Amino acid sequence: MKREIIQTLDGSTTIHLGEWDECYHSKHGAIQEAQHVFIKNGLSLFENKHISILEIGFGTGLNAFITFLEAKKLNQTIDYVGVEAYPISADEVLSMNYVEELNAITESSIFKTMHESNWEEKSNLSTDFSLTKRKQFFEAIDDIEKFDLIYFDAFGYRVQPELWSTEIFDSMYKALKPNSVLVTYAARGVVKRSMIEVGFTVEKLAGPPGKREMFRARKK
Ligand SMILES: C[S@@+](CC[C@H](N)C(=O)[O-])C[C@H]1O[C@@H](n2cnc3c(N)ncnc32)[C@H](O)[C@@H]1O
Repeated sequence: MKREIIQTLDGSTTIHLGEWDECYHSKHGAIQEAQHVFIKNGLSLFENKHISILEIGFGTGLNAFITFLEAKKLNQTIDYVGVEAYPISADEVLSMNYVEELNAITESSIFKTMHESNWEEKSNLSTDFSLTKRKQFFEAIDDIEKFDLIYFDAFGYRVQPELWSTEIFDSMYKALKPNSVLVTYAARGVVKRSMIEVGFTVEKLAGPPGKREMFRARKK
């Protein structure tokens, strides 16, 4: 599939898939979307805590990198697991402008290490943040009560409806510990119904710039 790097409206880059006309992030602003959906409505609920995060779709590493930066401000220690079946290329990594756009030049080596670290191995990026990248299909996830927070960032229902099914959300529910949270940029009724069917309580929240709504799901 043809892939091109494009700039989103907040100046940050993303990857656009030609055949699907689908992007890795919101065209309205990749960084703004990540900050709103995953940090403000997810990570920030766990201030001053040690938590494990599962990311569905490691992709460009933007969510992982922002989480690394924000976790310091929120006084958190993080075990981060990013699942991804189709890693981006080294050239694509170099084309992403997140370090500059996030004013994180002093942490640029962290973004690089995130991409260069070995798959299936836990890498301690600092004393407060470990990253484990798992090269795996989402359909094969079978963790049990391991995570406090899931960033559900698959491509949209329009192009991959099978990833928004009750089967997938059931595996997400099982992967979460009690008193945990899943956040996603999506806000379709069919997605909400699948989440509720497997046991989640679902809240509709205001979306990031350019999107009216998003979901946050809780496991009691
Ligand atoms: C919306 S993008 C993720 C963006 C990412 N969170 C970021 O910050 O750049 C969705 C990701 O899911 C991956 N993917 C698509 N289908 C998959 C599958 N069945 N199993 C695992 N990964 C898949 C894609 O390669 C892509 O990286």
